[in-house]
Amino acid sequence: MSDPFESRVAVVTGAASGIGLGLARGFAARGAHVVLADFDEAALAAAESEISGLGAEVLAVPTDVTKRDAVFSLAERTFERFGTAHIVCNNAGVAAYGEMHSAPHEEWEFVMNVNFWGVVHGVEAFTPRLVEQGDGHIVNTASMAGLVGMNVLGIYAASKFAVLGLTESLHRELSSHGVGVSALCPMIVATNINQNAQRLRPDAIKGQVPDGLENPEPGTFQGDVIDVEEVVRRVLRAIERKDFYILTHPEQEAILKRRHRKIESMFDPALW
Ligand SMILES: NC(=O)c1ccc[n+]([C@@H]2O[C@H](COP(=O)([O-])OP(=O)(O)OC[C@H]3O[C@@H](n4cnc5c(N)ncnc54)[C@H](O)[C@@H]3O)[C@@H](O)[C@H]2O)c1
Repeated sequence: MSDPFESRVAVVTGAASGIGLGLARGFAARGAHVVLADFDEAALAAAESEISGLGAEVLAVPTDVTKRDAVFSLAERTFERFGTAHIVCNNAGVAAYGEMHSAPHEEWEFVMNVNFWGVVHGVEAFTPRLVEQGDGHIVNTASMAGLVGMNVLGIYAASKFAVLGLTESLHRELSSHGVGVSALCPMIVATNINQNAQRLRPDAIKGQVPDGLENPEPGTFQGDVIDVEEVVRRVLRAIERKDFYILTHPEQEAILKRRHRKIESMFDPALW
């Protein structure tokens, strides 16, 4: 039996680093054609040559996902080159740390523009075409911070809760159109997200990071740090199985059960 990823066209945003680059490697290894999109042109060029070296047909498109036109142009370029797209991973994202009461407004804009609007633009640009062809799969990268609120991650969590809400609804809407939808919700993965997010911060908030959080030490947040390869294995498996939630860390179970118990406890008749 042939590999279900063979000759499929997979689009990945944030493909020049971390999870996105891992996904590109994973799709290429399974025989897919890969469209790489990233804001960081130098890193994108390096990714293009690496993924081409794996034998995949590759299209690299410098893309700022915060710009709607740029993401539509990414979709145009993809369809011009391959005539179709099957898998779309709206994955580009940035991290930000700090308490909300002292956060500059620009921090909200920076995080929401990439993490939320970037996903919206991907959905707008690609979903109508996937629906039209009645075939495909969308993977939106949320986070464990899209499932539970966390200290010093409020703004990031707001962006990721929004992505999860959008994605859960999209899953319902597209299930009758032959298009699968998954939400990737990892805890900590070993990538350069902190360094990249510092570098990409707009000038107005460059350097304005609370003490000790420029580059959080392992242990600042709960849970193990896992490798990108494990995340990629789970994403590809989820696409094949059409799983909605993609969870990556066993520690998530206890945390999520605690949250759900808190919600359920409010149905106690004594509390109504
Ligand atoms: N690393 C983690 O612990 C972790 C945990 C949960 C969720 N996530 C999510 O996974 C996704 C990937 O993160 P990562 O850890 O691989 O980070 P990363 O920094 O290694 O990769 C993110 C990539 O996105 C690109 N990017 C940033 N802004 C962009 C923009 N406006 N347009 C296009 N590309 C842009 C960066 O240049 C970078 O190449 C993000 O959505 C992140 O929020 C990461």
